[in-house]
Amino acid sequence: MKLYIISNRLPAKACKEKNGTFIFSRSEGGLATGLNSLKTTDEKHWIGWPGICVDKKEDEQIISEQLEKLNFHPVFLSCDQYKNYYEGYSNSTIWPLCHYFFAYTEYKNCFWKAYQEVNALFCEKICSIVSADDYVWIQDYQLMLLPGMLRKRMPHLRIGYFHHIPFPSYELFRILPERGEILQGLLGADFIAFHTHDYMRHFISAAERVLNIDFQLDEIQIGNRVIRVEALPMGINYDLYHSVSENPEVQKAINRFQNLFGNHKMILSVDRLDYSKGILHRLWGFSLFLEHHPEYLGKVTLAMVIVPSRDQVNQYAELKTKIDEEIGAINGKYSTIDWTPVCYFYHGFSFEELAAMYFVADIALVTPLRDGMNLVAKEYVATKQNNPGVLILSEMAGCAVELTDAIQINPNDIEEIEQAIVKALEMPEREQKNRINHMQAILSNQTINKWAADFMTEWNDICSKNQRFR
Ligand code: UDP
Ligand code: G6P
Repeated sequence: MKLYIISNRLPAKACKEKNGTFIFSRSEGGLATGLNSLKTTDEKHWIGWPGICVDKKEDEQIISEQLEKLNFHPVFLSCDQYKNYYEGYSNSTIWPLCHYFFAYTEYKNCFWKAYQEVNALFCEKICSIVSADDYVWIQDYQLMLLPGMLRKRMPHLRIGYFHHIPFPSYELFRILPERGEILQGLLGADFIAFHTHDYMRHFISAAERVLNIDFQLDEIQIGNRVIRVEALPMGINYDLYHSVSENPEVQKAINRFQNLFGNHKMILSVDRLDYSKGILHRLWGFSLFLEHHPEYLGKVTLAMVIVPSRDQVNQYAELKTKIDEEIGAINGKYSTIDWTPVCYFYHGFSFEELAAMYFVADIALVTPLRDGMNLVAKEYVATKQNNPGVLILSEMAGCAVELTDAIQINPNDIEEIEQAIVKALEMPEREQKNRINHMQAILSNQTINKWAADFMTEWNDICSKNQRFR
């Protein structure tokens, strides 16, 4: 028996160098970083897109050979599919809708056609690889039709689905023209899980009202199958982050950052470029803080890491321009010869460098307007070990349900962000450590392995029930 993880993006992405060779690097994003650190007893395989569109068969072959060594099986997308399925239906229709950015949602026939086409492409790939007794665990909103498609092709296959982003309230979800097909697609799985209880409730309510079906608590019978839904918050590889300072590479980076930030208090923010992350609100809150608290000028630096993401999609490109302008305005107004208030990085960092930043940061400022979970907040808390540190966290992040010892804020209230920064800077060390310890106790319990084990237990349970039915 093998476990097949299916996601739009593989945990490794290919990039073509000028000399024609391919280099591979790790993919950013919580789904890839989280699931890639999962340890399983079953042989683990991954099927997904390698992050690049190539037009030559030889290139596809070179990429496949490299990735197959890691049990990664690539699905290649054409430029047209990338545009209409990935940038289109996935990230211009579903993503904004699920994150309550209704006004950003675009509906185009060619998007929907491509979404169906690519889900079918994944279905073909899976059917050509898996055996009837394997586990096929589908991840996220790019592949919501896939469980239903696979179920038609392999009726007795074990199919699980995890939704990594918010599932919006029925009032929003009903707006989607293809809401019925999407829900039918998801119900092809045996077991469907979400990060929070609210997302799960929203899904049940949408399914009941759109499809006119009735759940009995968390289960529903359709034909000769019972389908179960559950809330399972995804965790991180806690030990990996908690022990980073033992890693010599990380230690070197810690020393470098400590020299760089000197006596300044360092506030850290890390996100993919995304309007759902509340990056502008964060900058407005920080700007207000500088304006109202001249006593901190020259003493506090905001290190802002933004990882490029989906930057060909209009809303993302526009956001990038606005962020650049806002940072320029803050730095232009407040910088001195020996202090720059916002230290801005528009690129990804290696694991070691990122871990060192978490370790050094006095405060992590995480202010999404909506976020399915937000693993950055969890990684920061785990990395602090026994050191002080403060997490300022938006109540709109999925992880706010677990991380109640953070300073929680409503990101739409920029004065609250300003006040939270002051509170964090003035918080006694003992209180900082207490809060971090409480949160670490929760995170060390609900790790990525525990999350996956819980998923597998419930999935197996429902599959054995269904086998008895047949
Ligand atoms: N990340 C990374 N390199 C970077 C910055 C971030 O690999 O330079 C990772 C980070 O460690 C985290 C993930 O990207 O695991 C972001 O996940 P999160 O859940 O916070 O947000 P998402 O991007 O999935 O919306
Ligand atoms: C979020 C989504 C993932 C996605 C990741 C990175 O975490 O839930 O499905 O992979 O963002 O986005 P990208 O579009 O670069 O894959």
